[in-house]
Amino acid sequence: MKRLKIIYGIFVMLLLCVSCQAQNKETENVIIPGIEWKDASKNRINAHGGGVLYENGIYYWYGEHKIPGRSEDDKAGGGVHCYSSADLYNWKDEGVILSVDYDNPDSEIAFGCILERPKVVYNEITSKYMMYFKLYPKGKGYKYGYLGVATADSPSGPFTYSHKFLAADSEEGSGDFTLFKDTDGSVYHFTVRKPDKAFVVGKFNREYTYPDGAYRVMEEIPPHTEAPAIFVQDGRYFILGSGSTGWKPNTARAFTATSLLGPYKELGNPTKGVNPHNGMNEEKTFGGQSSYIIKVEGKENAFIAMFDLWKPEHPFDGLFVWLPIEVEGDTFNIEWRDKWDLSVFEK
Ligand code: GAL
Repeated sequence: MKRLKIIYGIFVMLLLCVSCQAQNKETENVIIPGIEWKDASKNRINAHGGGVLYENGIYYWYGEHKIPGRSEDDKAGGGVHCYSSADLYNWKDEGVILSVDYDNPDSEIAFGCILERPKVVYNEITSKYMMYFKLYPKGKGYKYGYLGVATADSPSGPFTYSHKFLAADSEEGSGDFTLFKDTDGSVYHFTVRKPDKAFVVGKFNREYTYPDGAYRVMEEIPPHTEAPAIFVQDGRYFILGSGSTGWKPNTARAFTATSLLGPYKELGNPTKGVNPHNGMNEEKTFGGQSSYIIKVEGKENAFIAMFDLWKPEHPFDGLFVWLPIEVEGDTFNIEWRDKWDLSVFEK
């Protein structure tokens, strides 16, 4: 009995601790990785596998909208949810800016399709915001990996579904990806080719609607490198990625090059530390998988690595881990922090 009481006491303390941390996140300008995050209306943030676009002083965070009460196996995908923020701490809900189609079962984004890892770039030539996402047609599982495209006139949408294509010169398309917009406006698509999981890169056409030319296999990046995210600092390019174990965490990997298209050099695992909320260390990327790297505007050498802590049984409850990146010469580190703010970049 006494033992039960002690266990109950510890449980209550843990609950209090978690809710007090969630509270801090709402009231202070801090980032607390690995706990529930709330938006400015005090609702749980629902933007998984996300990417961020910075436009006119505002960051737009796009991510997978998960339908509460469903599992990944039971059609949790509801489209793309957007949040906006001027400071990277306080996020305003911009709503589901691209919804799956609940009415038309023949739609290419019909409810029941898999729509993952949205990323948005702006096209100066067409003045359109271009959204891309992994799109697996309804009822076909993960076999054919299309890249879905949606467009909008404003970064907070609404986005209109445009079309889909099989990238990477493969009849089965591609999987996880990241995009890099170069200074000349060219957009490069780094992705994992299906079915062999080779890591490849291709360039989009001027309108960013389709690839322009063939993809190239990046031999130096091992196959099965998923969840890629890229950033550039002082002319040096860095790629962060994961291994390939579905929703389960694995060890992160990193690469660097002095030219965007490589050749890249392996840097090993850039993460270090333990996530106290789940006990997972750098062997399992704190329980997370990379999704994007945010460049903090107006600061030198300031980047944030975004990770998802997937919860496939109840994906709405998936958590976020955002950590500062420290570039040191030709390598970089991502160390666990219980709580941090942007002043870490002022050294
Ligand atoms: C992950 C991938 C996710 C999702 C998942 C499905 O490796 O990064 O976006 O596709 O597999 O198992």
